[in-house]
Amino acid sequence: MIETLRSIELWQNLKRNGILGRKSLGFVPTMGALHEGHLSLVRKSKAENELTLVSIFVNPTQFDQVQDLDKYPRTIEQDQVLLEKAGVDYLLLPDYKSMYPDEYLFKVEEKNLSRDLCGEFRPGHFQGMLTVVLKLLQIADADNAYFGEKDYQQYLLVKKMAQAFFFKTQIVPCPTIRDHDGLALSSRNTLLDKAQRKLATQFPLHLQSKSTPAEITSALVRLGFVVDYITDKETDSGVRRFGAVRLGVVRLIDNVKI
Ligand code: PAF
Repeated sequence: MIETLRSIELWQNLKRNGILGRKSLGFVPTMGALHEGHLSLVRKSKAENELTLVSIFVNPTQFDQVQDLDKYPRTIEQDQVLLEKAGVDYLLLPDYKSMYPDEYLFKVEEKNLSRDLCGEFRPGHFQGMLTVVLKLLQIADADNAYFGEKDYQQYLLVKKMAQAFFFKTQIVPCPTIRDHDGLALSSRNTLLDKAQRKLATQFPLHLQSKSTPAEITSALVRLGFVVDYITDKETDSGVRRFGAVRLGVVRLIDNVKI
């Protein structure tokens, strides 16, 4: 049965008192509103570790728009049921005060990749994300931590940060999980209305096409998307095509290996 810990201290006591023994630990940090994408990270963690810890914390410092934070779906009871069914051992539910005893006076700043792609359009986003992930990695003290490739820029930044700060935790990438029509699963998809959800399928379809980034941008704009960027980049796993678009207030990101 899943054990829900509502404070960081409770988790730290479990570790300190040797309750977890020498068992290997996998960690899946989330902001809740869980879907198959998150559950695939949980399954990988369970396959590779003896124990799995999931955290749910909607991190305000990584939201660059107040409306986005207010609208972010919160489905904690449903999430708990899903995690219980998935066989997760521990669920950590920290609150803002305990995550930010410093009131966000200390921040992690990366000066290269974090300024590119989404960094250009979401000021402060990666600072907030890296800061909370640093705190969560430190708290979890896990052997492995799992991140989805849908947020590839996030995964790369977390991996580089973990190396830069000598974390023993291995950062493990997990493939993007897509809906039946190709749209990458995201908690924000639930915010799309029926027409937007239908149109959204055009985004991965165009991203995976043989057209150039400029051609894809024009095609998506003609269809009614606001395009932040479509661009090809060399990464640790070869060239990938990255895209970010908006439909109304909902921002969608995706990337594919090319
Ligand atoms: O990908 C997410 O859900 C968040 O950015 C993360 C890694 C949980 C940090 O808040």
